[in-house]
Amino acid sequence: MKILVINGPNLNMLGIREPEVYGNGTYEELKMRITDHCVTRGAEVEIFQSNYEGAIVEKIQNAYFNSVDGIVINPAGYTHTSVAILDALKAVSIPCVEVHISKVDSREEFRQVSYVRYVALTTITGKGFNGYLEAIDYLKEYIENGSKDTKS
Ligand code: DQA
Repeated sequence: MKILVINGPNLNMLGIREPEVYGNGTYEELKMRITDHCVTRGAEVEIFQSNYEGAIVEKIQNAYFNSVDGIVINPAGYTHTSVAILDALKAVSIPCVEVHISKVDSREEFRQVSYVRYVALTTITGKGFNGYLEAIDYLKEYIENGSKDTKS
């Protein structure tokens, strides 16, 4: 099983960026945790980060041609603005789970809008780095055993 993890703008600044919101863990640590988790689950993983909307759209399009089975995406700031990322996810029809490190639902009003949520199987927020691991397990279960009937 091939999983693609996509992180949007400023997530490369984890550890430096607003530690009171996103914690002290660095982006390198996040990548290591995701990689280790995928090893224990027997899944192949590619982890991608970009500060550019078009690069994220292209990565999603390429996932179709590279036979990716599932996408974990934290679109970061683009969550709240990007129809293009939503359209790319719709275009490829690859099962996807939306992750946010912080509890977006209890932050500013502009963070309450998520375009990706229209296509995501589920959204995991406010669980820090663990949210990514949970998303991987959710996708693995979905891909191997079919759809879950409830959104959590
Ligand atoms: C974020 C939440 C977004 O609102 C913000 O723009 C981010 C990170 C999160 O992981 O909590 O960059 O997606």
